[in-house]
Amino acid sequence: MKRVLSGIQSSGKLTIGNYIGALQNYVKLQETHECFFSIVDLHAITVPQNPEDLKEQTESVAALYFAAGVDPNKSSVFVQSHVPAHAELGWIMTTLAYMGEFERMTQFKDKSGKQESVGVGLFTYPGLMAADILLYNADLVPVGDDQKQHLELTRDLANRFNQRYGEYLKVPEPYIPEVGARIMSLDDGSNKMSKSSPNPNSFIAMLDEPDVLRKKIKRATTDSGREVLFDPVNKPEVSNLMTIYSYCSALSIKEIEQQYEGQGYGPFKKDLAEHVVATFEPIQQRYKEIRASGELHKYLQQGAERAAEVANETLKEIKQRMGFLMPL
Ligand code: TYM
Repeated sequence: MKRVLSGIQSSGKLTIGNYIGALQNYVKLQETHECFFSIVDLHAITVPQNPEDLKEQTESVAALYFAAGVDPNKSSVFVQSHVPAHAELGWIMTTLAYMGEFERMTQFKDKSGKQESVGVGLFTYPGLMAADILLYNADLVPVGDDQKQHLELTRDLANRFNQRYGEYLKVPEPYIPEVGARIMSLDDGSNKMSKSSPNPNSFIAMLDEPDVLRKKIKRATTDSGREVLFDPVNKPEVSNLMTIYSYCSALSIKEIEQQYEGQGYGPFKKDLAEHVVATFEPIQQRYKEIRASGELHKYLQQGAERAAEVANETLKEIKQRMGFLMPL
């Protein structure tokens, strides 16, 4: 069975971008693949985190995985810091990478550009991400469009390792959805929707109450026209809302255009809000049940044990090939 690995940072509320771009594919892939899904808390601390918030966010992201349909009996779901091999291989990966490779990463450029002093962890971040993936010899990595570049670097590092130390690591492929690989912000169609945005009206959180969600969609920026047409260059905001509509309603973009021909944005936005509510309300309900059930830690322990078995074996082989003196 082919392997899948992916992860989401525990650095705030998950948005519908995280869901449409990545999480919904986890649920699909677990039917046909051996899956490992991580809550990457070591990545989250590359920007300062309040300790209490970090703990809460880690539990919340884990509960959202299960609420969205990731099945603990089919997939191994684990917290990254529960499997120490990630930090260890992360270090090894940074020694295989070149400064220039990390400097080119757009996520680093974006995040570091916003800060006065830039943490080293933000810079070495892709080495840890490569480790996450390579430890499981993953074939496929479901991610949104913004992680493509990190995946490319992971592939380069895997190839570099294989050239130096003999063919061993699997070179992974990204798995990116056709619709919704890049959900844009609600207030600016040229920016990615992001859970770390300071403006809560720019993103829809998966856990936003239905009324909050309706309000955010009502307020979402459109343009001075009134045609519901898919044209990402000239109508980026409306096109983005149409992408969300299409995902949540299962209607095609063409069908949406036809449905709202000549009607303006009002009815379109009203219906969009109801489709989004219908998609996320059941997930929110399951989320509450999972958090109340007290089962979360049991699932995470089970996931970490399975993940550690695979990860430790890979790490051992890597270290042997590199010439580390192995303990008796
Ligand atoms: P993160 O935590 O920022 O986002 C998690 C996943 O959600 C996708 N995503 C989006 N997709 C569509 N539209 C959006 N607006 C949007 N925003 C986020 C991301 O592409 C991602 O798939 N570096 C990763 C976390 C990570 C990881 C890994 C991923 C660490 N190790 C190993 C895969 C494999 C990140 O920052 O994702």
